[in-house]
Amino acid sequence: MSPGPPPENIHIVDDVAAAFADTVVDGFARRVEPGFTLVLSGGPTARLCYERLADVGAAAIDWSVVDVLMGDERCVPADDPDANQRLVRESLLDRVGEVSAFHPMACDAVEDYDQLLAWIPALDLIHLGLGPDGHTASLFPDSTGLDAPPGRMAVLNTDPSGLNPHPRMSLTLGAISRARRVVFTVSGAAKKGAWEKVVSGADIPANRVRAAEIIWIVDGNVTG
Ligand code: 6PG
Repeated sequence: MSPGPPPENIHIVDDVAAAFADTVVDGFARRVEPGFTLVLSGGPTARLCYERLADVGAAAIDWSVVDVLMGDERCVPADDPDANQRLVRESLLDRVGEVSAFHPMACDAVEDYDQLLAWIPALDLIHLGLGPDGHTASLFPDSTGLDAPPGRMAVLNTDPSGLNPHPRMSLTLGAISRARRVVFTVSGAAKKGAWEKVVSGADIPANRVRAAEIIWIVDGNVTG
């Protein structure tokens, strides 16, 4: 798969977390089915986004109809400080009450997650980040996970550069392409270089993402 044209749907904002929360609330309000499937990620930006979503979404989202899945996970125990599922529980799930279902990823059960995804017809909203190296989810430059066979939804993956710690589990590009909406959040000056690659259409994993709609929420420290 080759990278596509530069992104069009770019929102440059002061407060990425607030814009992210508003985008999820908007997506929920305009959902096309009674339920809503929300796929979440990890990293410090994600934590801020989910804390804000817990606040903003308290009144605006009926969490009892939301299925929460993970876009990627580090292969560590569920309560490890580096576990994305711990981040999601602490920043969102513990604050919003019962969701319809939470499906954390377990690296020893990648086939189960693959099957789970295969049974879900559409993913309403997938939240993705952008690493300084251009990775997204746990799809790293030159990693085998980028070349998963068609139809494969979840894979184990590692960063061949060694920059990003822990073996990982990740949704594939094919799974991500089933999203009705992908929302990237990019925050902080450390992402300037990666952002320049995004807008120039360079062959980085984030530029291989396809979906019905892709929204970039980016702060001025990245673009300035
Ligand atoms: C992870 C992620 C990863 C993340 C990016 C950007 O588990 O590490 O899911 O893909 O989204 O590294 O993270 P930040 O935007 O927080 O820097």
